[in-house]
Amino acid sequence: MNNGLKWWQNAAIYQVYPRSFQDSNGDGEGDLPGVISRLDYLSRLGVDAIWLSPFYRSPNRDGGYDVSDPRDVDPRFGTLQDAKLLIEAAHERGLKIIVDIVPNHFSTDHPWFQAALAAGPGSSERSRFHFFDGRGANGEIPPNNWNSIFGGPSWTRIEENGKPGQWYLHLFDSTQADLNWENVEVREDFEKTLRFWLDLGVDGFRIDVAHGLAKDEIRKDHHDPDGLTRALRLDVLDMPQEIRAELLSDVPFFDREGVHEIYREWRKIFDSYDGDRMTVAEAWVHPSSRAARYVRNDELHQIFNFDFLIASWDSEFLISAIKRTLEDVSAVNAPPTWVLSNHDSPRLLTRMGGAAKARAMALLTHALPGGIYVYQGEELGLPDGELPDSARQDPVFFRTNGAEKGRDGARVPLPWSKSPGFGFTTGEPWLPISDSWREFTVEVEEGDSQSSLNLYRASLAIRRSHPALAKSSDYRINWLQAAPGLVAFSRSPNFYLFANTTDHVKVVPVPESDLRVLLASGAGGEVKEGQITLPPHTTIWLDQAK
Ligand code: GLC
Repeated sequence: MNNGLKWWQNAAIYQVYPRSFQDSNGDGEGDLPGVISRLDYLSRLGVDAIWLSPFYRSPNRDGGYDVSDPRDVDPRFGTLQDAKLLIEAAHERGLKIIVDIVPNHFSTDHPWFQAALAAGPGSSERSRFHFFDGRGANGEIPPNNWNSIFGGPSWTRIEENGKPGQWYLHLFDSTQADLNWENVEVREDFEKTLRFWLDLGVDGFRIDVAHGLAKDEIRKDHHDPDGLTRALRLDVLDMPQEIRAELLSDVPFFDREGVHEIYREWRKIFDSYDGDRMTVAEAWVHPSSRAARYVRNDELHQIFNFDFLIASWDSEFLISAIKRTLEDVSAVNAPPTWVLSNHDSPRLLTRMGGAAKARAMALLTHALPGGIYVYQGEELGLPDGELPDSARQDPVFFRTNGAEKGRDGARVPLPWSKSPGFGFTTGEPWLPISDSWREFTVEVEEGDSQSSLNLYRASLAIRRSHPALAKSSDYRINWLQAAPGLVAFSRSPNFYLFANTTDHVKVVPVPESDLRVLLASGAGGEVKEGQITLPPHTTIWLDQAK
């Protein structure tokens, strides 16, 4: 690799949610052969790698994040042979493949959980999970008062010989039993899973709930479990910041010291393989400086920076989020990452409240140093799908009795063409695709030079070819003097970015002579007579004509 850079350090990584990407057999759900058939689309888009959300055996109670066999492909997605073919076909096109690993929990359909039910209290089978007797005269009170992230209690009581028995811990759905990482068999089994996929040729792993594996003393109540649940939600705005920060600074089931020891062991495995295999951690930790501890040089490689996933289109917010992120990771010498959307959060366009802001936000992000993640459909400028409650499938919807709509809106299948089933399926899509999405199909956007798809193609191409963006392991950016409402920086050599987050046209003096517009998120950005004109909610990239 050039300058000793690893492939992932500046990569654009595209998230495929396989169930909603491309169906190949008409059953209404996407599958691995479907992904293979669209690899040319992804090459043309200009990404470097694909991260696939889980396609392993699963009863699919939480979109496949409830794994019942991590070393096999669920028949709804195809076969292990399809997975091999996908890896090969991607590699032939120079695309890397990252797969998900879900170490915090197994599906209650996993043979281990079934064996634990059969084996009874105190057995070695039960010790792979967190099984405990309840409290109270008849064990009717759960072992502690923690809540599930998805709503409701985090404990479910099982039947023991026809009578109420022990309880097991599940931080998420009751069909996702938390694994006990103190148990050596759990550690060995995951090492086996890592090696299984590494041997098959994957280039990396996205680690689900990477901050959750180690837990505090379980037989201890939390002083404010409901406050903690609210603090962990991203959309709670009415909680004072100090209270939220205080609650999040010490979560008994997240970001415990023990997780790091696990990743140090994993790192030895990755390093024993050739080809720069990498990992990216999903770890919601607070304060953000704690996140850098996951990417110390003997642990993981990247950590998702979710600041932009919850960002508003506001220059002050954006500048401080960028500065904080760069500071955090530079302390451990790791590259930053940037994420605008994923399968767990509202789509960018919906969150930003309009196409202009979403496009401007994308261009701002694509010019930042380090790695970027693009969630499928983000490149099309898709809004969240509108769904009737009867179509919803997310356990969050059910566990909160509908109080929270859940994440299905971001998981509606992609619209490829105007054919019935939108070219996604010849059958009935598993979530309905609205007629209004005819304007967002790949087919329509390919033919429109101003489309979101063509903007993403252009920005990703420049990211790859411009010397300031492509080959740099210099993660600093040079902030330029800018009036309120603007974000302005340069990256060396010869790259300038101006973003106007306001409702008004802004005119700013050019920082260098001969600047020309490389790319703009909307119409009207120009350089004339020593001034740059920036329409409202627009980002432009510039360089000096040579
Ligand atoms: C992660 C996944 C999410 C899943 C949860 C439980 O946050 O991204 O989709 O529901 O973990 O596995």
